Amino acid sequence: MPKKTFAGSSIFAAALLAAALASTALAQTPVLTIHPDQPVHAVSPNLYGLMTEEINYSYDGGLYAEMIRNRTFRSDWDGIHYWYIVEKGNAAATIAVDKETGPSDALKSSLKITIKQASPEYQAGILNEGWWGMALRPETTYKGSFYAKADTADLGSVTVALISNLTGKPVATAQVAAVSTGWKQYEFSLKTGAIQPSAANHLEITVAHPGSLWLNLVSLFPPTYHDRVNGNRIDLMEKMAAMHPAFLRFPGGNYLEGDHIKDRYDWKKTIGPMVDRPTHPSPWSYHSTDGLGFLEFLGWCEDLKMQPVLAVYAGYSMAQEHVNPGPDLDPYVQDALDEIEYVTGAADTKWGAVRVSNGHPEPFKLTYVEIGNEDWFDRTNSYDGRYTQFYKAIKAKYPDLQIIATAPVKSVKADVLDEHYYVRAAQNFHDATHYDPPTSTTAPHWDGGGHYDKADRNGPKIFVGEWATREGMPTPNFGAALGDAAWMTGLERNSDIVIMASYAPLLVNVNPGGMQWETDLIGYDALRSYGSPSYYAQVLFSKYLGDQTLASKLDAPSFDPANPRFFYSITRNSAKKRLYLKLVNAESTPQTIDIDLPGAKLSDTGTVITLSAPSTESTNSIDDPTRIVPVETTLHGVTGHLHHSIPGYAIQVIQLDER
Ligand code: AHR
Repeated sequence: MPKKTFAGSSIFAAALLAAALASTALAQTPVLTIHPDQPVHAVSPNLYGLMTEEINYSYDGGLYAEMIRNRTFRSDWDGIHYWYIVEKGNAAATIAVDKETGPSDALKSSLKITIKQASPEYQAGILNEGWWGMALRPETTYKGSFYAKADTADLGSVTVALISNLTGKPVATAQVAAVSTGWKQYEFSLKTGAIQPSAANHLEITVAHPGSLWLNLVSLFPPTYHDRVNGNRIDLMEKMAAMHPAFLRFPGGNYLEGDHIKDRYDWKKTIGPMVDRPTHPSPWSYHSTDGLGFLEFLGWCEDLKMQPVLAVYAGYSMAQEHVNPGPDLDPYVQDALDEIEYVTGAADTKWGAVRVSNGHPEPFKLTYVEIGNEDWFDRTNSYDGRYTQFYKAIKAKYPDLQIIATAPVKSVKADVLDEHYYVRAAQNFHDATHYDPPTSTTAPHWDGGGHYDKADRNGPKIFVGEWATREGMPTPNFGAALGDAAWMTGLERNSDIVIMASYAPLLVNVNPGGMQWETDLIGYDALRSYGSPSYYAQVLFSKYLGDQTLASKLDAPSFDPANPRFFYSITRNSAKKRLYLKLVNAESTPQTIDIDLPGAKLSDTGTVITLSAPSTESTNSIDDPTRIVPVETTLHGVTGHLHHSIPGYAIQVIQLDER
């Protein structure tokens, strides 16, 4: 009995002690100690970049500014998509695809318009409805062209007009002089007046006399970024520029592989004049014009000062089709060598000369070449042999190139391994430590599904070539942005091994049917675009990157390690003598922390940039594009000891200048 009493009081005392300790822990403000004079390692200058492929109407109907949808008149049982007959008054016409005549070997067919009856007052022809409309802005010139031939010179001139869907009236009109009886390209320009910006417009091409007119490659462009001919949408390029991307990984993704070998990204068919590009099926359920072709990818890199990370087709397509290593693979390896020569070769090399003739005399700088995409999906395990064959051939000619593998290989040591992560926020809260160095209890572990845990510092460097917190559609919500930010603190802390990372997918057309993959960084329709909360998280992490990580320690007994909700990364810009404290509070309530910077001599004022939201479901959208954006405030009275409160659901950067 006494024993029992003693035991009981002992349990009671222990419980009291535990409660006291717990309440002390709860009461104790977490302390984040930062040593500005103790760099741990360099931050990879290429840490944040872009990954891109043709998905979600990223190029056609997206970045690529072409306004005509189905400009080469592809058709199926359902007709000639996005093109319709125009018959004004008593005019009459029929349309059909003519497989017997086209403007080039690549475009062997065309649209034949048979005009049975038409007059100057009542014209007949076709209309194109664009990519969910055609965005028109006031006082703007739109440059167009088409290839055409007619059966008779009597057909007269062709009228091209942009028509408002709301009024049925022309917004801009041009005449193209009488079309000849042989294939020729015709150009026109359409200038708007003092209109309201709107996407509710379409293009009409009509004639005033009976006869037959054949058309192909009908094209219309608004002003483009850097005024490039055949160029990109200005708003989307500006959004990407604000991300300060170091690289562009292209052309995919699944888009590189295709469903079948014959549908792979065949770069040689995407260069030169548009009329010589045959177009090809994309694995994301629609056909690619290849208007944004191989050289246009490189121009995009040039415009945004990004280095290309070139993924070459490696003999595997997604329907489990592969090319055996050995002689069968040789033509594909040669294609990759030609591709590298096209990018980097001087004018006196075969493919360098082709690039020059395509309009780009200067070679591009190339450091990284990726062999395939997600080759761990290849169930025959042929990747080791395929990678090795590409690796040896490329290194023999270009020893300085870094060759990225998309799955672990044994026969050679890959320079870099590309890993992909698509997860929920809760997973990313735990995965913020994913790349922390291995310990005796956390050995490097390959999960067979594209991921290593606790990356081996003696193994290949890591390229997180695709990653995203997938919550929210078509674009991520704030909960996803919190997951992203938590994950990025881990990437920065471990950027000795993680040298590059790119969110995916990057772009989505938010119109009905525009999205094939939920949760995409930047959304748009024909007229407008917006950045998601995750986009702004990327902007902050990339803009305030720094070049060194600093020694730091978080003493937070009140935080539950099994349920992490607070994340941070501390970097320094050594040239600017500037500290970046990135803090992520994934709790709904504010979090106060003490920040100690022993020995630091700091300017009196600093800057706090905050991205926060009332709920994890809060988001931006095409109609509410700036609900969640970074807000900048000034921090006064900065010393080496800051008592700082972070709002609930917030991503913050504190910028402090050293004196
Ligand atoms: O980003 C969407 C797809 O996800 C990519 O095409 C592919 O590489 C990955 O499986």
